[in-house]
Amino acid sequence: MLLALLLFSSVFEALCDSTDGGKAPRILLNDGNTMPVLGLGTFLGFDENGQKEVKENEVELPVLWAVNSGYRLIDTAATYQNEEQIGRGLQKSSVPRENVFIVTKLGVNEQRHVIDSLRASLARLNTSYVDLYLIHFPVAFKPDLSGFDVVDYLDTWKSMEEAKRLGLAKSIGISNFNISQIDRLLANCEIKPAVLQVEVNLNLAQKKLLERAKKDNITVMAYSPFGSLFSKSEIPPPPRKDNPVLVQIANKYGKTTPQIVLRYLIQYGVIPIPKSVRKERVEENINVFDFELTPEEMKKLAEFNKDYKIVLPSFWQDHPYYPFEKKDVPDPDLFKWGQKTE
Ligand SMILES: NC(=O)c1ccc[n+]([C@@H]2O[C@H](COP(=O)([O-])OP(=O)(O)OC[C@H]3O[C@@H](n4cnc5c(N)ncnc54)[C@H](OP(=O)(O)O)[C@@H]3O)[C@@H](O)[C@H]2O)c1
Ligand SMILES: *[C@@H]1O[C@H](CO)[C@@H](O)[C@H](O)[C@H]1NC(C)=O
Ligand SMILES: *[C@@H]1O[C@H](CO)[C@@H](O)[C@H](O)[C@H]1NC(C)=O
Ligand SMILES: *[C@@H]1O[C@H](CO)[C@@H](O)[C@H](O)[C@H]1NC(C)=O
Repeated sequence: MLLALLLFSSVFEALCDSTDGGKAPRILLNDGNTMPVLGLGTFLGFDENGQKEVKENEVELPVLWAVNSGYRLIDTAATYQNEEQIGRGLQKSSVPRENVFIVTKLGVNEQRHVIDSLRASLARLNTSYVDLYLIHFPVAFKPDLSGFDVVDYLDTWKSMEEAKRLGLAKSIGISNFNISQIDRLLANCEIKPAVLQVEVNLNLAQKKLLERAKKDNITVMAYSPFGSLFSKSEIPPPPRKDNPVLVQIANKYGKTTPQIVLRYLIQYGVIPIPKSVRKERVEENINVFDFELTPEEMKKLAEFNKDYKIVLPSFWQDHPYYPFEKKDVPDPDLFKWGQKTE
């Protein structure tokens, strides 16, 4: 375990494993708090009808399996509409609240009501604080989601700072911000963001963004860590889970190719939050702390990068704070983001 910690390639001091039964070591954030280096993702995604409805127990059980198999970080968001299930899953586990690092996010239509929105999340999670609260997106919508709202994320951030001062969030951070937005935020804040959550995977190294974050000791969380590993479409670039380079490395360590990808990301210096709702996969995905990739293997895996994004909500690209490169023809917005489905 200690060897694995030494390899953690970040400016942070990797901390020894605590005695809380967690499998992932913790690292130090720029605000003095600590955070496990791997967590459970809980977003169920979209289907042809928009955001998938969360069924009874669909997230509660994976959360319970996760903490029982050594996860101590759970990632959610107001938008995922599953915070109650996460609260219940944690309640049913025997792990004390203070040993679990809970991350939730401010909805895109909640930016004028940060403290009230966070209190509503806390009520759903059945807890008095979250470990990390993130601005989900720099883009803002009207409360009823009827259209864009132009709220300066610097103003939103002032309320995030207030949330930290009130003790409702131990740490605060951002998600889906680009480099110039980070520069502007850092030039105009009292409390620095501790964490930046963005897409990082084998196809999307985010080199410049990571360098920018590192300069201010901002820890990067990697969402969609598997990238296109399980895609059945021809469109996204390789690798898939049966890629020979991945299979060869996996065989060497007696691991699966998804485990190789997660281990790669941790050694690359980011915190992956793989999502699964299947017990055997939840358990598989945290079992990555008993081996380490060599520098040669790290180099080989880095060659898969194509700066290819999966999460590119181009239907929002006319918003003045849209953070990503724009498409000539934006995709249609089918997603009814954050809207109640009943
Ligand atoms: N901040 C943001 O804007 C943002 C955006 C996207 C995601 N996120 C967060 O990041 C989390 C992870 O990202 P993601 O859900 O997009 O993608 P992901 O975790 O990279 O991939 C999830 C997919 O992989 C499958 N899977 C998981 N483990 C597997 C394994 N060992 N073998 C085979 N298949 C496996 C899952 O299926 P099963 O569930 O059926 O196992 C699911 O289809 C989200 O859940 C969410 O918490 C945040
Ligand atoms: C909320 O947490 C308290 C203990 O902190 C517990 O007694 C109660 O049952 C929980 N409520 C739900 C709905 O899980
Ligand atoms: C980042 O953390 C390192 C190590 O703790 C410290 O030496 C450095 O001054 C920090 N940098 C900033 C910009 O805070
Ligand atoms: C970053 O976001 C701003 C909007 O806040 C946008 O004007 C700029 O073009 C974005 N930068 C990149 C590289 O996409």
